[in-house]
Amino acid sequence: MTQTSPQLPDGFRELALGDDRLRDVLELDAWAFANTQSVDDLLTLPSPLPTDRSWALSPDGQSLAAMHASYPFAASPVPGGRVDVSGLTWVGVHPQWRRRGLLRTMIASHFAHSLARNEPVSLLFAAEPGIYGRFGYGLAARSTTLTLPRRAALRPVATDGLDVRIETVHPDRHADLVAELHASIDRPGWVTRPSEASRRTRVINSPLFAEGRETQRILIAERAGVPVGYAMFRRKPHWTDTGSPAYEVHVLESVTPDAAVAHLIWSRLLDLDLTTKVVTGMLAVDDPLLSLLVDLRTANPIWSDQLWLRLLDVPTALTARQYQAPLDVVIELTDADLPANAGRWHLQAAPFAQVRVQRTDREPQLRLDVRELGAAYLGQTSLCELAGAGLVEDLTGTALLTTSAAFGWPIAPVASWVF
Ligand SMILES: CC(C)(COP(=O)(O)OP(=O)(O)OC[C@H]1O[C@@H](n2cnc3c(N)ncnc32)[C@H](O)[C@@H]1OP(=O)(O)O)[C@@H](O)C(=O)NCCC(=O)NCCS
Repeated sequence: MTQTSPQLPDGFRELALGDDRLRDVLELDAWAFANTQSVDDLLTLPSPLPTDRSWALSPDGQSLAAMHASYPFAASPVPGGRVDVSGLTWVGVHPQWRRRGLLRTMIASHFAHSLARNEPVSLLFAAEPGIYGRFGYGLAARSTTLTLPRRAALRPVATDGLDVRIETVHPDRHADLVAELHASIDRPGWVTRPSEASRRTRVINSPLFAEGRETQRILIAERAGVPVGYAMFRRKPHWTDTGSPAYEVHVLESVTPDAAVAHLIWSRLLDLDLTTKVVTGMLAVDDPLLSLLVDLRTANPIWSDQLWLRLLDVPTALTARQYQAPLDVVIELTDADLPANAGRWHLQAAPFAQVRVQRTDREPQLRLDVRELGAAYLGQTSLCELAGAGLVEDLTGTALLTTSAAFGWPIAPVASWVF
């Protein structure tokens, strides 16, 4: 599937961004997001910017008015399979140049570059949820954050044979450990850091990002001396007017591959002296912690939109995942920005097995936009749910329930870090 180059606004040129433009990139990013760190300080840190996949729009061939980049999330987990994902990132437009179509141009460029690299799916985190739906991105993963009281009770799990180390995060000691354990998780949407620089960035432990909290710590669970899980965190000191300690534990990322590891790590985080609460990072809505908690209500769960997903090459993407119930349906798809996806497709699959996606001229049973299909792709957002909002049309009255069941997945999607 090919895509023509985007139309550039009058006078603008697209520039490939190399390492030599890093200062300009950080300055533009500071304009876009009102960052408080100084560019000089940021330049001392490793840069995760994928410079072979970073583009700017320039009004004069030199200065940067807007930029976008994409991470190469190769073979990323989707329901029952793996797919190459283009992770849209570093999107920003200088306030002077907003609302004249630069983002729209960059999205067209992102689609064209991703398709040229045979990446059939794009994922992103949206700074504001109202931005990306118009480009065919659907809300494919919702995550939870919890604010737990200290010593929140957990249901019992045997943790024999596990030990804990608590250390200060250091790139030389922890970059590989974190990268390996992080990459071992097989959960839809769980994209992992694609480059050495992005792996180091995660454990760089810079005071620039402390925001009034202590240095970054890591709690490592080990079985027979082998690391099997971790949580990175920072404590935020606070003493009340009456002189009592009321510190918060901010969990930056947790990797807990089995019940015993989850129990051990959360028990330790929930009982650090001087603290009164633990605030988790983004958790899947089926994270083990939610089932371990005796009283979920005291954990104040809040869910939020997380991963937005765009199907760039529909047949390739649909064949890359599996389905949990028999699938045999003709869908009629609309796609304003990538018309090669539009039209009628016949989807056939046996549960957890081979998938066939073909063009057809048979009568459609479901009608929907690529945004809705993208929302359903990771198995969490259900087609029934979308139909309830009038976003999926069941043309025969029989296909919605079975197709919705097939697209669901028993493991909820999530990404553990904002990219
Ligand atoms: C969000 C941002 C990238 C938009 O760039 P832009 O060049 O002004 O966008 P465009 O002019 O191409 O607008 C395209 C469409 O998106 C809409 N849009 C733009 N920003 C929007 C926002 N924050 N919320 C909702 N809609 C928005 C526009 O109204 C336009 O709508 P249309 O399709 O009806 O015409 C830019 O405002 C920005 O840099 N914001 C701060 C940083 C940020 O949020 N970056 C995105 C990180 S995920």
